[in-house]
Amino acid sequence: MELKERLARALPPMLRHIPRDKKWLYPFFLAGNIVLREEERRLDALPGAFDGYAVAYASDIHFGAYLDARAAVSLCERLTALRADLILLGGDYGEDQEQAIAFFNAIPSFPAGAPVLAALGNHDYPEGGKTMEPLLRAMREKNVQPLVNQTRVFRQGDDSLAVCVPDDFRCGKPDFQALKEQSDGARFVLLSTHSPDLLPDAAEAGLRFDLALCGHTHGGQVALFGRSLLSSSIYGNRFRAGWYRAFGAEIFVSCGAGTSILPMRLGTRSEIHRLVLRVNKG
Ligand SMILES: [Fe+2]
Repeated sequence: MELKERLARALPPMLRHIPRDKKWLYPFFLAGNIVLREEERRLDALPGAFDGYAVAYASDIHFGAYLDARAAVSLCERLTALRADLILLGGDYGEDQEQAIAFFNAIPSFPAGAPVLAALGNHDYPEGGKTMEPLLRAMREKNVQPLVNQTRVFRQGDDSLAVCVPDDFRCGKPDFQALKEQSDGARFVLLSTHSPDLLPDAAEAGLRFDLALCGHTHGGQVALFGRSLLSSSIYGNRFRAGWYRAFGAEIFVSCGAGTSILPMRLGTRSEIHRLVLRVNKG
């Protein structure tokens, strides 16, 4: 069991619930205030037909004691209102699978229009060998398409953009060979993986990707001088938060919308994203 999980279990329940009258304190305010980050990214490999393609992205919602039903509904309404071409959800919908199901039960259905694709995170896996099916069903009921070692290919004219979603790095069984076959021939490959820890293995296995969107790290949640106090990544601060260039791809790691263990942040923000892909004209 990693240090973060040991700490979570050791905390008395009373310490894990911050009284309402303390929520003005800055670290608690940061945790509960989800900011929208909007940006354009110029990408060498992006085909012309996808210039201006907008992706709304939210990861690490962690529905439960710190992000309640009202906040969950508001979050989903904000994602829909971004009028993106694609909505991506990055996994860790609750602290455990029961709460992940509760999250999808709490939100309204996403309207028809932009497809909503979802990865699974390590917190979404059931304990004791139970099946994923109840969570997958709850997702589909809200017009969310879970992808596990699966790819959706979008076409515009002769150009194509493949969204590859592997199984979770820690709790699942990523199948890079399947993703390679499914994305073969796509002009641009967007890899949506809950954890950036999967990226070195994906590259090693020969999976080509041009852009990776990840969560999992929470930016450290509490980070001082750009370093996590406690990292959930096996690579420490290597993929803590923000943009990186590695494996011939652009990599983005979100700090996530929710918080885990404690509803507090310092040196990081709770965030969702609207990312517009742009052709790099040099
Ligand atoms: Fe998370």
